[in-house]
Amino acid sequence: MRHWTQLGEAPIPGTGQSLLLFRDKDDFFIKISSGGGELMSTRKHGSEDALGTLPCRRLRDSTSPRVLIGGLGMGFTLAAVLKVVGPGAEVTVAEIVPEVVEWNRGPLGEHSAFPLNDPRTRVHLGDVMKLIRSKRTYYDVIALDVDNGPEGLTKSTNDWLYSDAGIAAAQDALAPGGILAYWSAGPDQAFQDRLRRCGLPVEEVTVFAHGNKGARHTIWLVDSS
Ligand SMILES: C[S@@+](CC[C@H](N)C(=O)[O-])C[C@H]1O[C@@H](n2cnc3c(N)ncnc32)[C@H](O)[C@@H]1O
Repeated sequence: MRHWTQLGEAPIPGTGQSLLLFRDKDDFFIKISSGGGELMSTRKHGSEDALGTLPCRRLRDSTSPRVLIGGLGMGFTLAAVLKVVGPGAEVTVAEIVPEVVEWNRGPLGEHSAFPLNDPRTRVHLGDVMKLIRSKRTYYDVIALDVDNGPEGLTKSTNDWLYSDAGIAAAQDALAPGGILAYWSAGPDQAFQDRLRRCGLPVEEVTVFAHGNKGARHTIWLVDSS
């Protein structure tokens, strides 16, 4: 039986909602104030790990790639990327809720071995869309997990990321040979069709949320190499 203790509440900018941080013994959970169940849990992060490892393992040269992750969450995707890429990598993680970064610097961060402390990590406090649109940096990997997937729960403006325009902008922000990766709580044919319209090879991968049974999540990989 769970005995959840609430440790924090953080408003999600631009929405009327908040993220709520809970602890149950050694595990942490993040929920959205409007309901809808757990958004994140330290108990299950197989697919968050895979969002980091799958695209980075495909890079021809992973010694010094530039990687963009949106958002930080519980840091599992960031930690997974850092395990695969080399010492010259620059891994930028965009997180829109500043308290999420603070939470990861505290006891929650033990679960992902404090990837924010890695010298290759850069934190952008703000919307990942801004970095994608800025065209200041071209990334070898862009890994997006800002919500529950194309049918988001957290922030309606995130819909843009999964639109034709958002997909095209993310493609434009890739360096030659770069790879886009999207996480989703489940399959989404309309989004997959949109990805295919960009004309690049798209692979849908199904990944267990934890271990090798139970709930499965979906990751799409768009390979421009
Ligand atoms: C599902 S969690 C990410 C989980 C993460 N992959 C992990 O390994 O734990 C989504 C995160 O994205 C953040 N977020 C939501 N919209 C965002 C945006 N547009 N730009 C940056 N971060 C965003 C949320 O605050 C939340 O921390």
